[in-house]
Amino acid sequence: MGYDETEAIRNLVSKAGSIPGRSPRILSRRASLEEAEGCLSKIESTLVSESDALQRFASVDAAVKSLRPADPMHCIHPQAIRDSAATFVSGFPGKVFYAVKVNPSPRVLREINAGGVANFDVASLSEVALARGMFPKARLAYTNPIKSRESIKSAYFNYGVRDFAVDTFEELHKILEETSIAKDAMASDLSILVRLAMPKGSATHDLSGKFGADAEASAQLLRDADKVAAKVGICFHVGSQCMDPISYTEALARVSDVIKLSGVQLDILNVGGGFPVAYPDVVPPPLSEYFAAISAGVKKMKLPKTCEVWGEPGRALATPAETLVVRVELRKGDALYINDGGYGSLFDGMLLGQRWPVRLIRPDRASRSKKLVPYKFYGPTCDSMDCIKGPFLLPDDVNEGDWIAIGQQGAYCSAIRTNFNGFYSDLNVEIMDRGYLGAPRFSGSVNK
Ligand SMILES: Cc1ncc(COP(=O)(O)O)c(C=O)c1O
Repeated sequence: MGYDETEAIRNLVSKAGSIPGRSPRILSRRASLEEAEGCLSKIESTLVSESDALQRFASVDAAVKSLRPADPMHCIHPQAIRDSAATFVSGFPGKVFYAVKVNPSPRVLREINAGGVANFDVASLSEVALARGMFPKARLAYTNPIKSRESIKSAYFNYGVRDFAVDTFEELHKILEETSIAKDAMASDLSILVRLAMPKGSATHDLSGKFGADAEASAQLLRDADKVAAKVGICFHVGSQCMDPISYTEALARVSDVIKLSGVQLDILNVGGGFPVAYPDVVPPPLSEYFAAISAGVKKMKLPKTCEVWGEPGRALATPAETLVVRVELRKGDALYINDGGYGSLFDGMLLGQRWPVRLIRPDRASRSKKLVPYKFYGPTCDSMDCIKGPFLLPDDVNEGDWIAIGQQGAYCSAIRTNFNGFYSDLNVEIMDRGYLGAPRFSGSVNK
């Protein structure tokens, strides 16, 4: 490419003055957080009143009975979210950053925060603005390894973001340029997290393909970042819905190798997301085994006492947040044509064969067949790909006009939905139970 990254870093470093404890030293006017916070007052918060606008019900069944929803209905379980956040925070051996992308609903963010999660992992400028607008004092880690120059600059100057991930020299260079206080003065308060590549492991949602530098490149990046940033760290992601805690043990061993190669001491070790939940026929080990593997792995690494350990859970916190209620518009044999689908909240079901717990809701006719049979779902769009194979076990007499509650829908479901073919529902209600299908360790029958 002709891009001389070492030269580029060197050029930036040559403008340097001083950061205590770092070499070479960087002279700069400190971009104060106060300045950035000043800009925050300009952020328009349309969020605060959201929860007040939601109708509340004692149960999903009560909401269906009252509203008889013709559109897909998103049932939010505030108590279940708070519980899963509190459980995670109390067990995880480090600081918890919720991955906003997984479910950015302000209602969900607020409950996650109420459960004790004070920091947020953000992947875009709009997530930065959302999280900062709601939580002015939160630490926001911008961990998408590839960001636009505009978003880096705005995140730093307007929203007080100081933690950025990189997996290339070009991105490091970009960040240094865009956060420069003046032409010849660099920001002195950056922390740079080098994203280390991971192999495909035990996760059902592989994330090994797109991001991450190999061990040698990560070591070099760490050395370069160490010259120009106030703090340096390593981050990684073992893949989402990681089914074996050993993936974290192995990942930490890789991090150790990179640290040795680089000769740099870490200020931050970010073990990413990946923490699993239970779905039908998928019961991972308890979270405590993941936390124990991380604690043991970190202990072995003999990191400096000042090194912070971070985690960025998404799925494990958000999954119990929502139950989706859909309506059956037509039945053809074992195929139920429902009003949400693969271009809506059930994207992972279409693409990855994801299954969720389901339950029939029939408010008028109490009786239903006791015999359960397997169904597939078709979504409402005209694309024949819009099929969620399941199988989903429901009574054998399901028919038009029945509602189906689909549980464990809080993560990567409503966040992904599109309005393809004009189908998009923003019907949200709040359910005041502790999580309709049990959370976060749901397993067993949902057809009670
Ligand atoms: C950088 C980063 N952190 C955290 C997460 C959340 O992962 P999970 O939902 O598996 O916990 C993701 C998900 O893609 C991610 O990209």
